[in-house]
Amino acid sequence: MLRRGARIRAMKNVVVLISGVGSNMARIVDCCRDERWPARIAAVVSNRPDAAGLERARERGVPVLVVDHRDFDSRAAFDRALGDAVERHAPDWVALAGFMRVLGDDFVARFQGRLVNIHPSLLPAFTGLHTHRRALAAGVRVHGATVHLVEPALDSGPILAQAVVPVLDDDDEHRLARRVLAAEHRLYPAVLRWLIEGRLRTDGPRAVLRAEPGESLLLLPTETPDV
Ligand code: GAR
Repeated sequence: MLRRGARIRAMKNVVVLISGVGSNMARIVDCCRDERWPARIAAVVSNRPDAAGLERARERGVPVLVVDHRDFDSRAAFDRALGDAVERHAPDWVALAGFMRVLGDDFVARFQGRLVNIHPSLLPAFTGLHTHRRALAAGVRVHGATVHLVEPALDSGPILAQAVVPVLDDDDEHRLARRVLAAEHRLYPAVLRWLIEGRLRTDGPRAVLRAEPGESLLLLPTETPDV
């Protein structure tokens, strides 16, 4: 029995799933350490043995493991093995950070409510791949990134927070991608921290943050973008 007013400050476990460079993952690991989140990054899991992010995780002392999708005959078998590997770390939160395999409904159901993703567009615009190229082709003046809870359909689920960046006249796909990625690096760690601290929840289609000064679920562009 807890004394009245006693505070529980349980450490939460976070498992991060990657497929590539892992820059979002590295930011999450660094912020968790530097900002002393009540959490540990329990493991980084990749579906690709050659993902550069694996080395970045190792350098940071985070346990890594690979569940190579090519070792499995079916998507369902891969999803089961991946789910088992993730589950072994008793995750409170599972963060997809550049994880480039579509996950089946069973995997999503297994972790629903604690599965989050970052997508490089202002959802619901530009689901899927090549979002920066498509944003340029569409002539939009704003672009950005979205962190959302994952539901079975591709790039769908309640939006938690968004970061907006301008599209500049001389942008190409790579320059725009760099600007969005810089915004992702601010957005994703902030959202994960709020979730871990129990300050962010959804109310119907809308996310609600018990915000501290200076915090917002909408990250606006910096006055003079440096990329
Ligand atoms: C990020 O831009 C992320 O939003 C995107 O992949 C990149 C991964 O970069 N994710 C998706 O497109 C998922 N649909 P990182 O490996 O350096 O974090």
